[in-house]
Amino acid sequence: MAELRLQDGSRVTEPARIAAHLAPLGVTLRHWPLPEGALARELLAAQVLTDAQKEQLLGLVEHRFQALQAESGYQARDLIVLHEELAGLREALAKFSAIHYHDDDEVRYVLAGAGYFGFVEQDGTQMLLKVVAGDYINVPARAEHWFVMGDAPRIKAVRYFTDQAGWIPVYTHTPIVLA
Ligand SMILES: [Fe+2]
Repeated sequence: MAELRLQDGSRVTEPARIAAHLAPLGVTLRHWPLPEGALARELLAAQVLTDAQKEQLLGLVEHRFQALQAESGYQARDLIVLHEELAGLREALAKFSAIHYHDDDEVRYVLAGAGYFGFVEQDGTQMLLKVVAGDYINVPARAEHWFVMGDAPRIKAVRYFTDQAGWIPVYTHTPIVLA
């Protein structure tokens, strides 16, 4: 389950309290059970997936995509698989580690591993949300945020898009005060 770290160093783990911090920003967080079974376990545990295996894993959570299509008009989905030995990982992550927004929602369903979304609260303080396997997050269009990974970066996450062209970072040059 997700965990929130506030700028004063305190940690928030209770889902309702996390939601109360995220709601003013329009950020929604849900917890969706992971796919089960031997195939799912194997795919979720692997560090690297072939394109065919990525499609297999996407197939196991296709009902989520269909529900999002019906609910909010999402048009496309793909699976990102990041790990510490991936060539170009540092450069790829650097694009998103500065505060930015997008013209489309940033929607992720984490299937394995973890990552950190940073947000600026309405009072100007910053917070860092750790998302882990089973967490679904929707960061709305034009909401300021950043994304970082830990020392041993590893994540598998489905990305859902209404329009891939809208998902380009627009940097706001707000300084990050949280490490
Ligand atoms: Fe982003």
